[in-house]
Amino acid sequence: RLSGRGDRFRGGLIVASNREPYCHRKTPEGLRWEIPVGGVVSALDTVLRVTGGTWVAWGSGSGDMEQTDAGGRLLVPPENPAYTLRRIWLSASAEENYYHGFCNLVLWPLFHGETDRVVYLPSFWEEYEKTNRAFAEAILEECAWNSTIWIHDYHLCRVPRMIRAADQERIIAHFWHIPWPERERYDCAPHGEEILAGLLGNDLLGFQTPLYARNFMDCAAARLGAVIDDDAMTVAWDGRTTQIRTFPISTDFECFNALANSASTAARIRRIRKQHHLPRRVGLAVDRLDYTKGILQRLQALELFFQRNPEFHRRFSFIQVAVMTRSGKPYLRYRQEVEDQIAEINKKFGKADWRPIIYFGSKLERQDLVSWYRMADVAVITPLHDGMNLVAKEYVASRGDGKGVLILGRQAGAAEELTESILVDPTDIEMFATAIHRALTLSSGEKKKRMMQLRGQVQGNTIYSWVDNILDELSLLPVMKQGGKHA
Ligand code: G6P
Repeated sequence: RLSGRGDRFRGGLIVASNREPYCHRKTPEGLRWEIPVGGVVSALDTVLRVTGGTWVAWGSGSGDMEQTDAGGRLLVPPENPAYTLRRIWLSASAEENYYHGFCNLVLWPLFHGETDRVVYLPSFWEEYEKTNRAFAEAILEECAWNSTIWIHDYHLCRVPRMIRAADQERIIAHFWHIPWPERERYDCAPHGEEILAGLLGNDLLGFQTPLYARNFMDCAAARLGAVIDDDAMTVAWDGRTTQIRTFPISTDFECFNALANSASTAARIRRIRKQHHLPRRVGLAVDRLDYTKGILQRLQALELFFQRNPEFHRRFSFIQVAVMTRSGKPYLRYRQEVEDQIAEINKKFGKADWRPIIYFGSKLERQDLVSWYRMADVAVITPLHDGMNLVAKEYVASRGDGKGVLILGRQAGAAEELTESILVDPTDIEMFATAIHRALTLSSGEKKKRMMQLRGQVQGNTIYSWVDNILDELSLLPVMKQGGKHA
């Protein structure tokens, strides 16, 4: 499903991310492998299956060490090996200070507009540097003469510059999956200059939306005095030039579309409806359990909706799926708040035969997920801040029946493209509750019109076009370098 562009990188692509694509866990039934939660992982796995090459990532599973050779390598996918996974081992202190510390307590809240939640300790930065160095060294070890390096996300900001110090010529690209804040907010970032300097070791730096790309360039100019070329979209600093581009990530449209239309999904929907005693109409939200996803605000809006619209009692239930991937204190606290609020709403409005909110705390298997997408009269995807949000696109891809309405938070990167959704500000609870009512009472003609436009949008930019566009840009870089665009 990738075009021929992957061929240009055959055997020579090195992907690096914090999360690994396959993780081995010890269970009472023996060693099991699983695929971690997250759209990014499955997208990149598809690329490497085609191109071959190496993926460097943190080996975070309890059974990971048992599966690798002495160099931390193994061939994956386990059932059909196509590329090498090179695992990096983190000490307990690195896990605490680099991952739970600098990544989750500093960068994550800061880049999602939650400055109040930032907690910083100097040991976080020390381990962040150390871990980034371990990644850079492993990447350099894996490099062949023709390797191109493709780094992902905020965990590995320092890696490009570290590699650059050892190898001036190598093509290095980085994709930034989360938002990039405006300059005033970025000024609160501890080590803000080192983060920018690290990223300017890249030849190519990709963002989800033009706004994030713009914000990055403003920060580089203000904090480092970098030279910005707005027409060419480049940032020049310290004798190097980095190309800045926008590549909105997407989903595998055909895969969701086909699975949602299948007879087996129809059968599963019947089974699920019975098993959960669902009323005729349902709403749905699927999130990682995270304060950036706006789950508490959504629950407030639902509470107001049920209060104002008793005619929907017993006729409508809302399904909230919230999967916990991070175990730090803010996440445990947030989960408690979510569960308490759901219990309260169910107590206030629920009846013996009807639950207003149904909550699932664990990952849904792909076909169950698609069944819920297909059942949901309305999907409510309303993060407070989000780089893109692939759930919104997966929902649209699953609605080949032209039914279903998408309510989308304006702050999701996806809102730039999915303009035929009902856009809400998730903190305006009054308007939000009204939007839920509106979504449930739209005429079927209007629903269909909107859904068909949304589907055209997602079908026109799938995960495969995202990869193709990035690989295209990457293959131009050596030419640009020779053309003297790089100092
Ligand atoms: C976001 C980030 C990813 C990250 C994922 C899950 O989507 O952009 O890099 O992997 O969240 O978070 P976790 O901390 O569990 O890896």
